[in-house]
This record gives sequence, structure tokens and C-alpha cells, in this order.
Amino acid sequence: MGQIEDQVAIVTGGGRGIGKAICEKLAQDGANIVVGDISKDLAEETAEEIKEKYNRKTLALEVNVGNLNSVEEMVNNSLDNFENINILINNAGITRDTLLIRMREEDWHKVIEVNLTGVFNCTKVVGKRMIKQRFGKIVNISSVIGIMGNTGQVNYAASKAGIIGLTKSAAKEFASRNINVNAIAPGFIETEMTKSLSFEIREELLKRIPLKRLGEPSNVADLVLFLSSSASDYITGQVIVIDGGMLM
Ligand SMILES: NC(=O)c1ccc[n+]([C@@H]2O[C@H](COP(=O)([O-])OP(=O)(O)OC[C@H]3O[C@@H](n4cnc5c(N)ncnc54)[C@H](O)[C@@H]3O)[C@@H](O)[C@H]2O)c1
Repeated sequence: MGQIEDQVAIVTGGGRGIGKAICEKLAQDGANIVVGDISKDLAEETAEEIKEKYNRKTLALEVNVGNLNSVEEMVNNSLDNFENINILINNAGITRDTLLIRMREEDWHKVIEVNLTGVFNCTKVVGKRMIKQRFGKIVNISSVIGIMGNTGQVNYAASKAGIIGLTKSAAKEFASRNINVNAIAPGFIETEMTKSLSFEIREELLKRIPLKRLGEPSNVADLVLFLSSSASDYITGQVIVIDGGMLM
């Protein structure tokens, strides 16, 4: 029997990449999964695949995490189908990279809206429910870029650093209600987001990664499972770096 057997997890941005790997891992361990994604097609594909593969209940929901009404709709829809929400994985995120002085105001605001306000919206709505239930696990996907910064990513770095402050504050607010809130800061992981890195940038990166490889989405998903299960009951307000040793 899995550690999270029959629990209900909402995974935002669950349609592909790291989010999809998280959906798979949690389902494999026995959870029922709500796949929330701005792409209805991706959400449906992932939900269908997981239902077949792991024989779990799944629900595909179109959501824009940056919009509070849309998040409320997702959560109400989940609660129409499942009794509780045990686990929330705030994974949805985007990049709009360019140097600071060239960055358009809309690219600043869009990245903050999806990556940071998105985590606020989902944590606010699901947190309210978890407080009533008096249990819950929230895992926020930040990034090492939020800790170390990166050329061409002021918007992304600020959003991911913001998630760290939000995580610690929410952990303090929710602790008395038996709700753990933690963040994961992945390094470079093989997904669509990193596919566009040129050969030269990849080679440069590998020089800085002691384990000499990019991470796999399943590596991040393993850590998410740990932080979603009772194995991590005494851990809250932490940021766990998973980057092949790049940042140390
Ligand atoms: N890939 C990496 O190297 C890496 C490193 C550190 C952190 N991260 C973070 O991990 C998370 C997942 O990244 P990924 O590489 O799998 O990216 P990805 O682009 O492959 O997947 C992101 C998913 O989020 C969905 N999404 C985008 N905007 C959304 C919105 N407004 N509402 C709901 N869903 C939305 C997309 O449709 C997509 O399915 C992101 O938060 C990212 O910042 C990624």
C-alpha cells in the first residue's frame, strides 16, 4: 500500500513536463489526481494516461492559476468530484526571458502573475479548505534561479524568490492546522522549458553541475512524493534544492 493511498492531489501545470511526472508518481503511490492546466488538451491526455496506467481516479480541469476566479472554479469542481483535497502541488510556471533593460512591462507582469500570484491564488483557495479539514500538504515548485539569480531572468528569478517567502509565511500561518508547506528548488531539468538551451549553454552548464547531467522530471517527482507523504510530517517551511550539486 502506498503512503498516500486514496488521497486527493491537485497538480497545477500537470499536463506535461515536471507536473506530469508528479501526477504519475503520486498516482503510482495510490493518490487520485486532479490535473489542472491552462491547456485542456494536455490536462485531458495526462489524466487519461494516468487513469489507464495506475487505475486511479483522475479529473482533468482547465485552469489559469493567475486568475482567482478560475482557481476557485477548479477547486469547486474538484470538491464536486472528491470529498477532500489532501495535497496541493503548485507547479505551473512560465518563462519570458530577456535582459532587464529590454524586458517589456507585460513580460514582467505575466511571469509574476502565473508563477507567483498563481501560487498565492491556489494556496489561498485550497488552504481555506485544508484549514477546515485540519490536514494538508502543500508543495511549491520554486527554482534555484530564485536563490542565485540568472542573466535574462529577472522576472522569473523574482517570481521564484517570491515563492520562497510565500512558502515560509504560509508554513507559519498553517502550522497549527496540521498543514505542511514546503518548496522545492530544482536546478536544470530535462523538459520543454529547457529544450531550447543551445549546445554551448548546455556544455557550460554541465561544467557547473557536479553530477554532470541535467535532472529528470522523475527526480523532482520523487521529492514531491516525499513532501506529500507522512514521511515528511515534521518538515515545514523548507526549501529543498535538487540540482545535481550545482548550488553549494
Ligand atoms: N525545467 C526546469 O529546468 C525547471 C527548473 C526549475 C524549476 N522549474 C519549474 O518547474 C515547473 C514546471 O516546469 P516544466 O519545465 O515542467 O515546464 P513546462 O513548460 O514543460 O510545463 C508547464 C506546464 O504548466 C502549464 N501552465 C502554463 N501556464 C499556466 C497557467 N497560467 N495555469 C495553469 N497551467 C499553466 C503549461 O500548459 C504546462 O503544461 C515550473 O514552475 C518551472 O518554473 C523548471
